[in-house]
Amino acid sequence: MTYIEARTFFRRELKTLLEVNEIDFYFKTLLHSLFNIESTAIALDPNTNFSEDQKQQLEEALKHLQKEKPLQYIIGSTYFRELSFRVNPAVLIPRPETEELVAWVLEDHKGLKQKKSLIDFGTGSGCIAIALAKEQPNFEVSAIDVDHTVLELAHQNATHNQVNVAFSQQDILRLDAFYTKAHIIVSNPPYIPPSEQAEMKPNVLQYEPHLALFVTEKDPLIFYRSILAYGEVHLISKGYVYFEINPRFLGELKSLILSFNVYSFEERKDIFGKVRMLRIQKE
Ligand SMILES: C[S@@+](CC[C@H](N)C(=O)[O-])C[C@H]1O[C@@H](n2cnc3c(N)ncnc32)[C@H](O)[C@@H]1O
Repeated sequence: MTYIEARTFFRRELKTLLEVNEIDFYFKTLLHSLFNIESTAIALDPNTNFSEDQKQQLEEALKHLQKEKPLQYIIGSTYFRELSFRVNPAVLIPRPETEELVAWVLEDHKGLKQKKSLIDFGTGSGCIAIALAKEQPNFEVSAIDVDHTVLELAHQNATHNQVNVAFSQQDILRLDAFYTKAHIIVSNPPYIPPSEQAEMKPNVLQYEPHLALFVTEKDPLIFYRSILAYGEVHLISKGYVYFEINPRFLGELKSLILSFNVYSFEERKDIFGKVRMLRIQKE
């Protein structure tokens, strides 16, 4: 099978699921990440044949795409703020909205002269912690997650991106034994109640870790409450908490923040025009 025949095959097999430009993007990404073939090769050498082994790998990838498995899990990697991260189905695929949260933290600490300690709660792939450590060397970054398999991958990602992050296994809902003073807290915790499942795409619902996505209908702000309670004790005066949030709970979250009597906050919209981030400052 030649390059051009394979692309035609992909277009035909995926046309009910994806737009043609998406199919072409997926095809090029697969060629590059599986075989290190540049995307220009399809135009320059359309009649080059894939080897039998390459053909089988492509067919395998196509089957996964037909079952709506995210491309990032098929190739095992993704980009976040131009850094490359390994991902597998134990970790959430980093989102562009989260890149915006990281951008807000960096914007506020541009030209930072002294060291500041920063904790990422619910680190997953480590994308927030690692990008912040990479882009602001004066951040001393720690990151926690409840799932040790996730932490192993986050650790590999830190090594791959050549940064130091102190990872530890902790439960956000039981932080009584975690005493670390922090200047900054950042978190993108689970925030989707089960009632939103109906609006979610199958590729997310079937493949991404439910531990990373869901909270109970009864107490959707449970993670925020626990992190704010931690901050009440361990965040330094004038320290910041940056949260990614579910816009649906903005009102309740604001009331929760104010109920602590030590915090003020500002909100920010994401590229889609939804209030997706909060910056909270302690007195
Ligand atoms: C929405 S994901 C965010 C992952 C990553 N920070 C990102 O932005 O892509 C939430 C993370 O919280 C972790 N998590 C879920 N419950 C937790 C708990 N009780 N304590 C600590 N981490 C938890 C999940 O394993 C997951 O990695």
